[in-house]
Amino acid sequence: MSAWFGSSSTPRVAQDPQPPPESDAPTHPNEPAWELVEALEARVKQHDGATPFVTLSWAQGLDGSMAHASKDDPRLMLSGSESMAFTHGLRKAHTAIMVGRGTISGDDPRLSVRMDIDGKEIQVEEQPAAIILDGSLSTPPSSKIVSQAKMRRVIILTRGDSDTMCDFQEKPPKTWSMAKIQRGAALSCRGAKVMCLPSTSLEDILKALKTLDIHSVFVEGGVSVVDAFLRRPDLVDQVVVTVAPLFVGGRRPPKGPLEAPLRLSNVETLTLGDDVVVSGQMPSAVDFANVAPEFADRGELSDVTQDEDDDEDLTEFERLARKHADAKRLREERAERDRLSKEHGLAPDDPLITQAIEEARALDET
Ligand SMILES: NC(=O)c1ccc[n+]([C@@H]2O[C@H](COP(=O)([O-])OP(=O)(O)OC[C@H]3O[C@@H](n4cnc5c(N)ncnc54)[C@H](OP(=O)(O)O)[C@@H]3O)[C@@H](O)[C@H]2O)c1
Repeated sequence: MSAWFGSSSTPRVAQDPQPPPESDAPTHPNEPAWELVEALEARVKQHDGATPFVTLSWAQGLDGSMAHASKDDPRLMLSGSESMAFTHGLRKAHTAIMVGRGTISGDDPRLSVRMDIDGKEIQVEEQPAAIILDGSLSTPPSSKIVSQAKMRRVIILTRGDSDTMCDFQEKPPKTWSMAKIQRGAALSCRGAKVMCLPSTSLEDILKALKTLDIHSVFVEGGVSVVDAFLRRPDLVDQVVVTVAPLFVGGRRPPKGPLEAPLRLSNVETLTLGDDVVVSGQMPSAVDFANVAPEFADRGELSDVTQDEDDDEDLTEFERLARKHADAKRLREERAERDRLSKEHGLAPDDPLITQAIEEARALDET
């Protein structure tokens, strides 16, 4: 008890009880994580594209590794419990969760929503659909995900032999081997929907999902699938990467150089336990300065870039790839001009050098 309380000579006036001051304290331990998922959910709901809303998400070490170096090594545990709970929240915000068949064979994940963002156990009315990319149809029928196929939608997307999508159960591809047909039958009789697509390109996959009423996809890996999506940034809306504090020296995406660096916008970061989550929007059209900063004004490129802005059939990605190729060509030409200029004591823009470069180019083209 404080000293003045008992010793005060002033009688204490009884006061009406005051409502407790409004608290700024978060209602959830991980309030920023809840807010991030809610904002994403709102974007997912608004999405009305020709292909589903795609969130590309993975966990990596400080060196970018998503998995051990060898495919035979056991599963690499990267995320801590807090970021794992956050991943469950992200899953719940989408109609479907997608992985490649390598992840199913290697990790045998359940790909379900089992907790909220605070890590509290929950039961959802309907689990998101599980999508497996599997051109060779080698998903084990005994995998955990296939064993759930009678309780939730499990869709295996594979390559058929026609230029339209068809359901394996209704029309098994005529050109498949008996072994592949048997694998398809083993998966279908366990309740998995095996869909045969013209190809397993990401474009065909996403178009197929749209026709199957899948409006949003949470892509969770593995390494090859993440790599493929990073090469088609035009198909990705949001990226969420969890960085765990360890070095692995393992497999990581992207597997090699990209067409251009991809800088995310509206970036948010969260610290969850020992992990840092970086989330941002994939640029819908990667700007030209990003591709080739030294040619950002595009004046110099106008000689080599052919009609790229006139061709309406090009996707944003194809436009970017073309610009990138043009910038590469121009860089090579500059280097060649410098080399010839030094060798012959001429100015880099001397007509003789231009002629030599044009002749070399014509020779290349033939
Ligand atoms: N750190 C993480 O967040 C995380 C998450 C998931 C997995 N992982 C790890 O990643 C590893 C598995 O990665 P992975 O590269 O071996 O396998 P993966 O990416 O899970 O699956 C790759 C396979 O998917 C099939 N596929 C079909 N269409 C594809 C397309 N358009 N693009 C790419 N693949 C397509 C291909 O098989 P077909 O040739 O038969 O079509 C391909 O071999 C495991 O070690 C796992 O632990 C890490």
